[in-house]
Amino acid sequence: MEKSFVIIKPDGTCRRTVSAIVLKALMDQGYTVKAFQEMQVSKELAGKHYAVHKEKPFFPWLVQFITAAPVLAIIFEAPDVIQGIRDALGATFVQKASPDSLRGKYGIWAGINLAHASDGTDTASQEISLWTGESDLSISDDAEDRAKQYVANYIGGGIDWTMDIRRVVRGAIDTGDTSQEVMNQLIALLGKDATGIKDESIENLANAIFAFIEEEVEKSE
Ligand code: RTP
Ligand code: MG
Repeated sequence: MEKSFVIIKPDGTCRRTVSAIVLKALMDQGYTVKAFQEMQVSKELAGKHYAVHKEKPFFPWLVQFITAAPVLAIIFEAPDVIQGIRDALGATFVQKASPDSLRGKYGIWAGINLAHASDGTDTASQEISLWTGESDLSISDDAEDRAKQYVANYIGGGIDWTMDIRRVVRGAIDTGDTSQEVMNQLIALLGKDATGIKDESIENLANAIFAFIEEEVEKSE
């Protein structure tokens, strides 16, 4: 039986309705939840998880993003679960992901892309031993029930703010707007469906998204 390690990234977890929809979509595909934990990721763990990207120019941003606010760390188990989840998520960059994939529907923009999933059997086992060894994630009999409880808590309660957030991010990039107003709009929208997430985390996530906008605007100048 195959296992895959999945992270609902901060942009997903801060949108409770969206994270519940995504979790349910994966469970509905028949993937069993073996481990499920909401947590704040440390810079150290983020660096180890994304060690393969250490030399890439986007690495510091990636660590800033994944540590900005809590994530949902999940281990799924099923035959062919690794490819199945990669297919369900769609292409890495949101604008390249098919519109009916999870990233296509719920990703924000570019690498602000909702979720991580293991890309092969070797990386899955490396990631699972890293996260079960160095975070609060552990395989447990009640993981599936806790995941179902999360879905029940959040799936019907809120609004999906994806399109509004996307509009702010794309609008700012297209018009080169890096004013405080953009930052204020991001903080307001990201806080709308963020039950239980600290204000400080919402601000950190808005900062990470804003940093991405600034980079895109700089590139186009
Ligand atoms: P992940 O590891 O998060 O599941 O995503 P992936 O396999 O589809 O993509 P990967 O190449 O492993 O990249 C890891 C994450 O880094 C961010 N990224 N930004 N600015 C850029 O050019 C860039 N490239 C990658 C994305 O958040 C991506 O998911
Ligand atoms: Mg990857």
